Amino acid sequence: MGKMQWQNSLSVGIDLIDNQHKQWIEYYNDTVEAVATQKGQAQVMKTLGFLIDYTETHFATEERHMTAGRYPALPEHKAKHDELRSTLAGLVKDFEDEGVTPELKKAIDTFLGNWLVQHIQEIDMKFGAYAKQEKIVIS
Ligand code: FEO
Repeated sequence: MGKMQWQNSLSVGIDLIDNQHKQWIEYYNDTVEAVATQKGQAQVMKTLGFLIDYTETHFATEERHMTAGRYPALPEHKAKHDELRSTLAGLVKDFEDEGVTPELKKAIDTFLGNWLVQHIQEIDMKFGAYAKQEKIVIS
């Protein structure tokens, strides 16, 4: 997958969430670039740190609105978020233990990139449709 570009097919129809996803993709791309160009341990750690912090900010936003909107699929959605939280923590540990390995690069380029796209298109999209249907204000 490598670097990603925002496209309309990723829009869930909620400006706040779409804007966060755009920012999320930027942090993801920064991480891909830092790893691909071997920018050094400090830069890779920094970009991974930004990505993880922003992931938490974003997940917390969605979970807060899903809770407030009594979204029935919140447990399943949150379970997916928790899976990624755990995966990202594992990537940091792998990086701290062994630096940038081919496995780490593949995990970021392929697994993480695919996860982000798939999660937005399959999981977040359902919440976007629910929020519209229930007229939940998200701002
Ligand atoms: Fe946009 Fe469920 O993360």
